[in-house]
Amino acid sequence: MQVVKYVFQPHGDSRGQLVALEELKDIPFQIRRVYYMYDTGAGVVRGRHAHRSLEQILICIHGSCKILLDDGREKKVVPLERPCEGLYVANDMWREMYDFSPDAVLLVLASELYDEKDYIRDYDEFLKFIEERGGGN
Ligand code: TYD
Repeated sequence: MQVVKYVFQPHGDSRGQLVALEELKDIPFQIRRVYYMYDTGAGVVRGRHAHRSLEQILICIHGSCKILLDDGREKKVVPLERPCEGLYVANDMWREMYDFSPDAVLLVLASELYDEKDYIRDYDEFLKFIEERGGGN
């Protein structure tokens, strides 16, 4: 499994840091939705789903968390702990977000509007989806 992490260029000066993200330039898709999670309780696991077509970039803009990626064959844990780092998550990747620090803010840039029909929330259905597409790469 290939983990695709982007390192964004901070525009730092004596005042501090600023990261600017433009669609189809810094982000590999058109950004149609932005959402973020915060105040995530200790021990909480979010996500636990894949998507039929949605692409996302996850950025922990404050604090830290871990992302479990599972392509149906292999699992990888990616820590997110820097506000200038983004993790690309393709549609056909089962993802779980956990181990949030109390101050964590996880920002998500998404390629589509919210659509419950795009979710695959059942793990067996996910494996079937991967298989029908010719195996998890
Ligand atoms: P949920 O899918 O449970 O979040 P996660 O994948 O992080 O565990 O979403 C929580 C609630 O927020 C649920 O009621 C659906 C709603 N929601 C929206 O209305 N729009 C969105 O873009 C997202 C991601 C969730």
